[in-house]
Amino acid sequence: MAEHVCPVWVGYLLSSPLRKLIQNPQKILPPHVKPGMTVVDIGCAMGFFSIPMAGMVGPKGRVVCVDIQEKMLQSLKKRAVKAGVDAAMAYRLCANDSFGLEDLDQGVDFILASAVAHEVPDPARLFTETRRALKPGGRFLLCEPAGHVSRQQFQDTVEQARACGYRVVDSPGIGRSHAVLLEK
Ligand SMILES: C[S@@+](CC[C@H](N)C(=O)[O-])C[C@H]1O[C@@H](n2cnc3c(N)ncnc32)[C@H](O)[C@@H]1O
Repeated sequence: MAEHVCPVWVGYLLSSPLRKLIQNPQKILPPHVKPGMTVVDIGCAMGFFSIPMAGMVGPKGRVVCVDIQEKMLQSLKKRAVKAGVDAAMAYRLCANDSFGLEDLDQGVDFILASAVAHEVPDPARLFTETRRALKPGGRFLLCEPAGHVSRQQFQDTVEQARACGYRVVDSPGIGRSHAVLLEK
């Protein structure tokens, strides 16, 4: 695991309903997530975004929730059961050297990576593996916390995404974040 992975107690803070005042999943995600889609939440933690996405994809879609910490996924599962969306979820504990998306090869409509790229030791691998999983024209919303990640660091990450074949199609405004919408 990378040295600076978000501790589990921060996972609880990130799941606070108060966060919706700054980053409301019901405003951020609907332009990208539609019924029946297969979506992936990389570094899902306890599901601040994955659980609302499950509501958006509906019974015919699915949300693949990927995290490197088992405790995050365990807490997410409990929350998803409580929210009535467990059936739409696939929980995946990934390894340090693989996000474990191989079986999704060109089958994913949308990927979210919120506040995780700066924790990933090899961002090029993030972009290569996610791009392989996306359908042609599939999109990837990359956002990073503005207080924690400088504008320059974010630009460097976006350049890595470009070098891996992504195209930048938008820069959506997301509270206290740097964000870009990438397209395969
Ligand atoms: C700061 S939290 C963000 C959680 C969530 N995306 C959000 O916006 O609320 C970062 C999450 O990414 C996970 N993570 C860190 N490195 C990872 C990696 N290499 N692969 C998958 N998940 C990772 C951490 O375990 C943690 O749950």
